[in-house]
Amino acid sequence: MPDLLITGCSQLLTLRGPAPRRGRELRDFEIIRDGALLVREGEIHAVGTRKNVERLRHSRRAKKIDLGGRVVLPGFVDSHTHLIFPESRAAEYEKGIAGVSYEKIAKSGGGILSSVRKLRRMSPDELKVRAHVHLRQMAEHGTTTLEAKTGYGLDFSSEVKTLEVVRELRLEQRLDIATTFLGAHVVPPEYKGRTEDFVDLVARIWIPYIAQTGLAQFCDVFCDRGAFTVHQTARILMAGLVCGLTPRLHADQMMRTGAARLAVRVQAASADHLDKVNAGDIRALADSKVACTLLPGCSFHLGLKHYAPARALIDAGAAVALATDFNPGTSPTPNMQMILSLACSALRMTPAEAIAAATINGAYALRRHSRVGSLEVGKFADIAAFDVDDYREIPYYFGVNHCSLVMKRGSVIFEKAEN
Ligand code: NIG
Ligand code: FE
Repeated sequence: MPDLLITGCSQLLTLRGPAPRRGRELRDFEIIRDGALLVREGEIHAVGTRKNVERLRHSRRAKKIDLGGRVVLPGFVDSHTHLIFPESRAAEYEKGIAGVSYEKIAKSGGGILSSVRKLRRMSPDELKVRAHVHLRQMAEHGTTTLEAKTGYGLDFSSEVKTLEVVRELRLEQRLDIATTFLGAHVVPPEYKGRTEDFVDLVARIWIPYIAQTGLAQFCDVFCDRGAFTVHQTARILMAGLVCGLTPRLHADQMMRTGAARLAVRVQAASADHLDKVNAGDIRALADSKVACTLLPGCSFHLGLKHYAPARALIDAGAAVALATDFNPGTSPTPNMQMILSLACSALRMTPAEAIAAATINGAYALRRHSRVGSLEVGKFADIAAFDVDDYREIPYYFGVNHCSLVMKRGSVIFEKAEN
């Protein structure tokens, strides 16, 4: 792989520095005008002004890429997705618009369980075809690392099938994927009325097997009304922890359950959603190492007025991250730029805060911040370039794909066709 000299970065947002970013650090970061990057063997070898980088010995012989004046960021790290699902639930979307609530749809056998019924019948190859399309869309919108959860199998073989699909996807395309076991998404139909038995099964049988095969790195639980209690969630996350699976959780989304406090207690990598946390929860999260991953795509898609208290979390010093929550029920977008727009307009985050939350803090939420999430020496050359004059225009012109070039570990994986 030849060395690469990338110039023509009218604004280069490196996001370099200690991670995670908290409070003012989320919006106070370096912007290099007329910046450049030198890439060697897929990693960043130098970053700075064009003048300084061009002067380096290796720059002279490097292959040159002139971006001609674009805004350049680290590739987005989408730290919460339900990538593997069987098909859209567009019919339920229409029901929701007519006034039937998400929880009511779920209670009548729709929602997550309708995805479960279909996924169980699908072959790994069928699941992969769909996932490849979505991974491609993610890459085209600037994402270079993501997380993918199970949770639409809910029986042993379908959960393992999902995990194996993710393992194969890792080898078949370029994006890095962190895998999360979400066997406790909801109670499967065959355990209806026997939640404790299901929790027991997941904790005693499934988790040790999955941890031992190395198929997942994280363990997640949907801790909410209609899913699992704090007590059940703790049992599953502790079982995962004992086997080496790092906890993360769906916390306080529909109802305040105390899941955010549990996230602090088990030192989860991340507590996600957090729509309904109270002032005490916010303080506890801010004083911890738990990433607070906000998913505004859900409130937007479900047409809810309530959004997570992003400002209070940031002002308290929490390590706020942003992700798509890409899934067929509550947030069917693979596009992190859309999430930036929602973060700014609905969560009242500044464009700078949103970008930091979607890159370096997303990397922190996956505990991959030493390799991805910022453009600094020694990290992967995961780079996204945008056709805008000012980085604030990425969320500002919403619903448009501004991304024109994406590089993963120094290889171009997407380039917008010139008209
Ligand atoms: O993150 N809340 C639970 N899980 C998903 C929704 C999954 C679905 O509806 O299919 C979420 O919002
Ligand atoms: Fe989710």
